[in-house]
Amino acid sequence: MYAPEKTKGDASWFVRDRFGMFIHWGTYALAARHEWVKSREQIPDDIYRKYFDRFYPDLYDPREWARTAREAGMKYFVITTKHHEGFCLWDSKLTDYKATRTPWGKDLLKPMVEAFRAEGLKVGFYYSLLDWHHPDFPIDVFHPMRDHPDAAKMNEKRDVRKYARYMYGQVRELLTRFGKVDIIWFDFSYPDREYKGMKGKGRNDWQSEKLLALTRRLQPGIMVNNRLDLPGKADFHTPEQYQPRDWVRVDGKPVVWEACQTFSGSWGYHRDEATWKSPEQLIQMLVNTVSCGGNLLMNVGPTARGAFDDRAMKALGVYRDWMRLHSRSIYGCTQSEFKAPQDCRFTQNGKRLYLHIYAWPFKQLYVDGLGGKVAYAQLLNDASEVRFRDGGAGKDDASRGIAKDTLILDLPVVKPNAVVPVVELFLK
Ligand code: GLC
Repeated sequence: MYAPEKTKGDASWFVRDRFGMFIHWGTYALAARHEWVKSREQIPDDIYRKYFDRFYPDLYDPREWARTAREAGMKYFVITTKHHEGFCLWDSKLTDYKATRTPWGKDLLKPMVEAFRAEGLKVGFYYSLLDWHHPDFPIDVFHPMRDHPDAAKMNEKRDVRKYARYMYGQVRELLTRFGKVDIIWFDFSYPDREYKGMKGKGRNDWQSEKLLALTRRLQPGIMVNNRLDLPGKADFHTPEQYQPRDWVRVDGKPVVWEACQTFSGSWGYHRDEATWKSPEQLIQMLVNTVSCGGNLLMNVGPTARGAFDDRAMKALGVYRDWMRLHSRSIYGCTQSEFKAPQDCRFTQNGKRLYLHIYAWPFKQLYVDGLGGKVAYAQLLNDASEVRFRDGGAGKDDASRGIAKDTLILDLPVVKPNAVVPVVELFLK
């Protein structure tokens, strides 16, 4: 079992809680075709403005969001306070491009933070380093105006130092006005992405050192992600839209990590996306992550009316139903010292070993390496005993190649009614 590298921020709760909700919400929810729509379709400000002018989330009920997250087993949430489009959910003093100036006219962040905290969840703020609205943000490879014939000329008037001051001020607001903030999720750096002579952006543009120092000064203990372009300074690493197959390492050393994933591909609400993950994929992503010592941050993109749509509710329901009976194999668990059999994953919490079975076998499951090591076994969903024996003593064992170090579990013929059934093994 690995112990990850020590962090500046308080990772103790983070590596225990394991499961959080990501929320991507902004005016791109009205376009409903990816949170990058402004960049992808190269939409100029005056056209994109229509989403701001029509922003009216009349169904917004943060207490319902928070309850849904808690019921799904999520222990923290990370909200896009500002995404790349530049729109701010809170009443920032530094811009008019914010929720309080839309027809809705109300701060969206404060009630959200209060609601999630009231449900016992920890608070995380995503803050985009990119800003496709701010007049001082230099046009670059991702900017909606990148192919504008006058892009280079327009950049002459843009001053990234002014933009960095704006970010500094906004981060200060975020970290002083909402009480304790447990996570900050800066997104993202791309220093090497030059385009038509326009440079990408990284630590020198964001003034990452300053931003990080401010962050840690205002919120000691806060967990900071790894996208500020400051190698060695992050508290946790953030593999995105893929599942690591082993503990994530940086310079050969295991680190604290959190995979972030979507239900259907895009982060913002996407009406027409059909690639929604199956219940098996959803649960297996969580299990795979914890079995490699990581956290899972699962994303929801609320609609422009401020609701989780029926597809998102269904996906969250998959987690709710499974976590209600199996959270013991997730919270406080990490990568096991043992190697799981084929089509299975282990997580471990001290002397308890959790065997997640992805393909239900017929009756016997053979676990190499655990013979003689298990004192008791049960199904986790109903605490029903799973009988077992150690290999080697049975009369056919030798001819079937079953040795002493193999544990033989007797499973019911019928798979328990769980997307991924779990056997809880009590080690001697
Ligand atoms: C990205 C994307 C983005 C998303 C994020 C989540 O880098 O730019 O839209 O918010 O990752 O990890």
